[in-house]
Amino acid sequence: MHGSCKEPKTTNMKRKLSYILILVMSAIALDACYYDKEDAIYPLKGYANPCDSVATYNQCVKFIMANNCTSCHNTNYNTGGVALDNYNDVMKAAKNGSLMGTIESQPGYNTMPPGGVKVSSCQISKLNDWINAQEPQ
Ligand code: HEC
Repeated sequence: MHGSCKEPKTTNMKRKLSYILILVMSAIALDACYYDKEDAIYPLKGYANPCDSVATYNQCVKFIMANNCTSCHNTNYNTGGVALDNYNDVMKAAKNGSLMGTIESQPGYNTMPPGGVKVSSCQISKLNDWINAQEPQ
């Protein structure tokens, strides 16, 4: 960082940084989900913006389940008697409170997924939006 010969490099860096800043800011403006760091680092596999607008099961919720829950909770391998790979079962878990109870570590529930990797706060708010909207399919 010392000496005049390095100045052009620094300016170049600053320009690059401001491009990155502009990109990040437009990503935030375009998609609230990208505001969440975890979502930027671990986007839902294969789906760029599954939670863009209205949270429906088919556009959003099933991808959150697939990325966090269905490895242990599916129709063939329903750990704890819970399957989360189809609309009816996820809707039932939402209605009886166990879906958010486990994801949000509410008292009386085991924290899900187990092992410390949490569902991102953006995805949690999408799930709550979905439940408040009566679980649209
Ligand atoms: C690594 C495997 C694994 C993953 C991934 C996982 N679960 Fe579980 N889940 C379990 C096990 C095992 C149980 C049985 C209770 C226990 O032993 O903790 C369980 C139990 C549950 C129950 C029953 C209620 C309770 O409190 O035990 C619900 C609801 C549930 N999980 C929801 C979810 C949701 C939602 C996700 C994704 C966010 C998820 N699980 C991810 C293994 C998993």
